[in-house]
This record gives sequence, C-alpha cells and structure tokens, in this order.
Amino acid sequence: MSAHSSSLHAKDAGWSGRFAEPVAEFVLRYTASVGFDQRLALADIAGSLAHAAMLAEVGLISAQDRADIERGLTQIRGEIERGEFDWQLALEDVHLNVERRLTELVGDAGKRLHTARSRNDQVATDLRLWLRGEIDGLAALLAAVQRALVAQAEAHAATVMPGFTHLQVAQPVTFGHHLLAYVEMFERDRERLADCRRRVNRLPLGAAALAGTTFPIDRAAVAHKLGFDGVCENSLDAVSDRDYAIEFCAAASLVMVHVSRLCEELVLWMTPRFGFIRLPDRFTTGSSIMPQKKNPDVAELARGKSGRVAGHLMGLIVLMKGQPLTYNKDNQEDKEPLFDTVDTLRETLRALAEMIPGIEADAAALRRAAAEGFSTATDFADYLVRKGLPFRDAHEAVARAVRLASERNCDLADLPLADLQAIAPQTGADVRGALDLDAAVAARDHVGGTAPAQVRAQCERWRERLG
Ligand code: ARG
Repeated sequence: MSAHSSSLHAKDAGWSGRFAEPVAEFVLRYTASVGFDQRLALADIAGSLAHAAMLAEVGLISAQDRADIERGLTQIRGEIERGEFDWQLALEDVHLNVERRLTELVGDAGKRLHTARSRNDQVATDLRLWLRGEIDGLAALLAAVQRALVAQAEAHAATVMPGFTHLQVAQPVTFGHHLLAYVEMFERDRERLADCRRRVNRLPLGAAALAGTTFPIDRAAVAHKLGFDGVCENSLDAVSDRDYAIEFCAAASLVMVHVSRLCEELVLWMTPRFGFIRLPDRFTTGSSIMPQKKNPDVAELARGKSGRVAGHLMGLIVLMKGQPLTYNKDNQEDKEPLFDTVDTLRETLRALAEMIPGIEADAAALRRAAAEGFSTATDFADYLVRKGLPFRDAHEAVARAVRLASERNCDLADLPLADLQAIAPQTGADVRGALDLDAAVAARDHVGGTAPAQVRAQCERWRERLG
C-alpha cells in the first residue's frame, strides 16, 4: 500500500478544503481503516452501482454519468480481484480509495456518485451486504457439519456407550444419540443466524450522514436492487447502530461454544484413558520431544478459538455502549472483530466438517465403558417398579445392590440372583434383561430417547431436513 502521507492535504483525502494544514502522518495512520476495510470493496462497489442506477432513474445524474460510473466501477472491481488496485493509506478507507480511482477513470461522473450519500450510510450498507453473504456461507458450513454428524450417528445408531452426568457414568446411551445432540445444537445455531440475517438485511443507504437527504431519492429501489428486504426506517438509527454485528457475534459465540464442547469431548475420548475414538493422523500432530504422542491439535485449537470469538462479542458490546447518536468514528472499530469472528468460524467449521467423517469410534471400548459404573442401575429400579415396588423403595434397594457389587468388585449383572432377591424379593430371573446394556437403550423408545430405532428415525428426519 502506498502512503503519500506527510504532504497530504485534507482536501486530497476527499473531504474538505477547510483544513489549514496537512494531517499529521501519525493521525493519518491512526485513523485510516483501508488496511482492513478494503475487504468490503466488492460490497462497496455493489452498493455504489445500485446507488448510481437509482440516481440516474430519479434524474439526479445523467444516463451517461451512470454508464461512466458503471464502466469505471467494473474496471475497479477487476483491478481489485486481480490484486492490481493501488490502495493508498492517505485516502483513509475503502470508500475514498474506490471513489478516487473512479474519478481518475471517468472524471466528473465519479465526483457525482456521492450525491445524496455519506460514508456513514455507505459503510453501514457495505457492512450489512458483506455480512449477509458471510452468514449464508456460514449457514451452509454449519449444515455440512450437521450432515457429517448425522452420517456418523447413523453408522452408530446402536453403538452403546456410557452417558455421563457430572462426568460420571450415568446410563447407557448410543453413540449416535450422543452425536445427534450436537446436530440439535447446530440447528439452533443455524436458526439464530437466519434470524439475525433478517435484521442484517435492511438498507441504511439514504440516511446520508444522519438526517437523510434533500434529494428525491428512491430508497426502496436501491433496497430491491441490492436484495435487501426493506430499508432502515430511521436515518439516525441507520447510520449509528451496529446491533446486527453484535447479534451476529453473539450467535457466532454460541456456535463456538457448541464447537468447543464437542471438541472437548473429542479430546477426552481420544486420550488412551477413554480410548473411545481414533482421529485420523492428518488431524493430529506429534510432539517434538515425546515420540509416542499424537495430539488432537485441531480439536484443541477449535476449543481455544471459542475464546477469541466470545472476546469479539464483548469488544463490540463495549464499543457500542457509550456512543451518543449518531455515527461516531468509534464504529470503525467494528470491522476487525467482525471479520475475525467470520474467519474463525469459517475455518473452524471447515475443519470440523472434514474431521468428523474421520472419527473412528471403538465400539468395543465404548461398550466396556458403558458396562462399568453400574450404568443400568436405573433400569433395575424401573424393573422393580414394574414388579410393584414404589420407586423410592426400588431406588433404595438398588443402591444396596450397587454397594454389594462394589464391595465384591463386580457388576450388578454379575451378582447371583439369590443376593438380588435377598435385597429385593420381587426380583426374578427376568432381571437379567433389565440389566443388559442393549435392552436398556432399546427400552428408551420414545421421541427424544436413545433407542437405536429412535436414533435411526431422527437420522432420517435430519437427512430430509439438511438435504
Ligand atoms: N471508515 C469509516 C468507518 O469505518 C467510514 C465512515 C467514515 N465516516 C466519517 N464520517 N468519517 O466507519
């Protein structure tokens, strides 16, 4: 990027001739945003094209001006896409860089483009356009992660594993059921993004600096051309609030919370202590000192990156909270956190979508773990309830059986029937069925339950929904 800096006069930057001395070089660097907001260039050009078309339609510029502007902007878009555009720090931001080049290319028509517009409504429009596109991309990636989870869930609809509460073995569930829990979480995340998109998708342009414009503009036409659902109805609000960016970061933070929980489980499951899964080598790294190590770095990093996204959410909230209406330069600080949130989410979801199909569950290890920790104790209690014992008494009887099994270092299913009968006389030989892992999961056969039949039905439903 070139910096025609200390010699730059304020009027050269595109604002006014009212300044008596050049901007200090340090101020220029401090206030410029072109280093990062050039990322909005294509949205900026799209917005300008729609604005110019409207200006021509309502007679504010000539058809020739409009054609010149379109030609110039098309060329600029090509220069930017090819990486040939000469970004100048001295021109402060993406908007002034594009406008200056346009004027270089097409003369006065370029200078007319800014009629009935301010950078305040321009930047708000650019950001919304850009974010809308990113939301669509992220929603598609979330769906890809969901599809990968559903495929694994289908393969493991009947793979028994321990379900945990307090990270203690609680009751047997299926691995498929466990994975589908994340599919639900990511579905709510997609809904949140879609809901946020509705509020993102409003056109600020026309608010001009803050109060609207004296020109007879047609905001609805611009909104329509740019695919917005409508216009921001108050000009002051249109240029000043960034709640849609905050809302997006909140939705993104929740995505990352869910990602982080999943990744935390992958990390745990992969340790030899658990030994529940293996991850393909391409998603793990070794240690430079310990030859035996295979570390789940991708999962750990994804877990770690949830911190920066939550941080960006806080950053934007604090950025906004003290600002009087309307636009303040503070808002320029909205971009980097937002950009980084989008980038982090995209890369993380991509990594997950690739990694999940590579998860190899060790069905035997999962089953062994489910058999430990008296995971079918509740089933025994339910069995006694069916034999007529009140649940509280059944609970107490099974607790005594668990204690006995603990003392003998064996499982509930290994206790002789006579011992079980001594504790609860209602116990019959058919109790074996209740203590069986497969029977325990199969019995939870209702919507939302862990029975393999339910898991398969859910997978089917997800396949239809996710396409
Ligand atoms: N770069 C500025 C931003 O990101 C554009 C708007 C500047 N407006 C102004 N009045 N200085 O917010």
